[in-house]
Amino acid sequence: MDRNEAVLRELNLYPQWVRRNQPAPVAKEQPTPEKLLAVRPEPVEASRLGGGKADTQQSAMGIATLNPSYTGSLNWNELKQQVRDCTACKLRAGCTQTVFGTGDEQAEWLFVGEGPGADEDAQGEPFVGQAGKLLDNMLQAIKLRRGKNVYIANIVKCRPPGNRTPEADEIATCLPYLQRQIKLIKPKLIVALGKTAATALLGRDATLGSLRGTLHDYLGTPLLITYHPAYLLRSPMEKAKAWQDLCLAVSTMDR
Ligand code: URA
Repeated sequence: MDRNEAVLRELNLYPQWVRRNQPAPVAKEQPTPEKLLAVRPEPVEASRLGGGKADTQQSAMGIATLNPSYTGSLNWNELKQQVRDCTACKLRAGCTQTVFGTGDEQAEWLFVGEGPGADEDAQGEPFVGQAGKLLDNMLQAIKLRRGKNVYIANIVKCRPPGNRTPEADEIATCLPYLQRQIKLIKPKLIVALGKTAATALLGRDATLGSLRGTLHDYLGTPLLITYHPAYLLRSPMEKAKAWQDLCLAVSTMDR
């Protein structure tokens, strides 16, 4: 099995089924990630790449607010140190270490998950467990690679006990770190992985199904929303929709 086939299999896009009495596709007509990327599944609302420069945004839930005195002027090293030393919420007491984020600090692509799990807590890096393997395959499907023009971070930097969903006050406390990361990275596109990341960034509750397929805005940076890889591992039939979302992300970046 070549790598393209492996990635297509991962995304439930392989094999291609053909109706009886119809000629089987010849090998060169089979989908490749590149060909599938040419598909533009859903129109984006508007292209806002390179758009607004807002420093703050008061959200409906009041949690997506940049607090300049907290992180606003920190450079990378200062920010890393501050996260490492943070005890601002109850999560730190229950985790092994903080998980800051990883990747290209000038990346155009920023992927944001929920929070570290057991593997990430042990290794100090986001998305290194099973969900991380799927995320790596999703990246590969659109010709991206962890660390190369890609940064990966989480909404909260400490593992919630038992992998529970982070609570609103924990998200509120931790979000300024991600906001500063975004300011420093200046990504062209943020991809929120899962409902927790999406609703934390948007500052409002909604179903993931209602949020995906539309270009949103996070403090002036275009924001797309897709399923969390851990959810896709549990619900593999949804991988086709995640693939649509990735296609939309690529077409948004190409504009
Ligand atoms: N799930 C997340 O949301 N983030 C990780 O880093 C790992 C699993």
